[in-house]
Amino acid sequence: MQVHHIGYLVKRIGDAEESLKVLGYSEERAAEYDPIRDAVLSFWVNGSTRVELVEPAAESPLRPLLARYKNSPYHICYIADDIEKEQQRLEQAGYVMFREPEKAPCLEGKSVVFLMSPGAGMVELVEASDPTGKEAE
Ligand code: NI
Repeated sequence: MQVHHIGYLVKRIGDAEESLKVLGYSEERAAEYDPIRDAVLSFWVNGSTRVELVEPAAESPLRPLLARYKNSPYHICYIADDIEKEQQRLEQAGYVMFREPEKAPCLEGKSVVFLMSPGAGMVELVEASDPTGKEAE
């Protein structure tokens, strides 16, 4: 499956953005509040690599993860042509859904779902087609 982005959990998104710039990333989507996750998100690209920065608000359900992960990657998101079918396929292989499928306002309202693999950590699936409107190759 093709990777859409790597999700980074960060304490201060502005600091994280400055750090990504030094590595050659440029902004794809400016920081924006996502009311479903109660977090500020921005997207950055460097060649074919896309990073999603996530700064959870104080009451965000993601806040406990921040205490655990600090400033670090915490999920990899994969593109699914048929998200329900891929979810079922992963569940049959031992992945466990831990957040119901939901809309991602910062990904053009596409459906996403999070699953946990006992062997490979947290995985996100996103419906096919890119947030910029460009089809993923
Ligand atoms: Ni993500």
